[in-house]
Amino acid sequence: MRKLLFLGLVCALSAPLAFARAIPDPHQKHAPGNESPQTPIAQAGYSVGVNYQLQCAGCHLSDGTGSAANDTPRMKGFVGNFLKVPGGREFLVRVPGMSQSALNNAQLADLLNWLMRKDGMAGDSVPADYQPYTAEEVTTLRAKTMLNLPGTRGELIKAMRAQGIAIEDGMNY
Ligand code: HEC
Repeated sequence: MRKLLFLGLVCALSAPLAFARAIPDPHQKHAPGNESPQTPIAQAGYSVGVNYQLQCAGCHLSDGTGSAANDTPRMKGFVGNFLKVPGGREFLVRVPGMSQSALNNAQLADLLNWLMRKDGMAGDSVPADYQPYTAEEVTTLRAKTMLNLPGTRGELIKAMRAQGIAIEDGMNY
């Protein structure tokens, strides 16, 4: 019995050491065929949809539904409304999820234009006179930091309300 107890104690005390061995081993070799360094996403040449899944879906979800519990607004069927109010076009580039993503300016422009497709996330919320974003436009807008994000967004939502646009962004206010 005492032996068993002692064995138990040894096991309990050595468990953390066993776990510690699970920490990545700096001398570990790459899996065969996977030796080359990772390509940064800005150079990887993935499709727009893949870029969205890698850089945005973690918060906005795959289909742009968002999550009120995580303060992430719904883009699906709504995001195009920002283009109907003054300042909204700039806002969409300058939100941190966009401007601070690892994507380059051309990729961000493509992503925005992809979001704004009638058969895409924005759907019917896109204004009829939609002008696609260009890489040059994104370059200029992206460089300007937005200082008061909630205030700016609040004003845009207010301007939408004044136009009679239903605020279906999934946020409860
Ligand atoms: C870490 C979570 C997170 C990631 C990653 C993220 N976003 Fe966001 N996004 C938000 C939140 C939260 C908001 C609401 C405004 C704010 O607080 O930034 C938002 C706002 C937006 C908006 C403005 C719409 C609105 O209703 O305010 C757009 C457009 C947008 N995100 C697109 C993207 C795209 C495209 C990507 C990927 C390149 C991305 N976001 C990555 C969390 C995220």
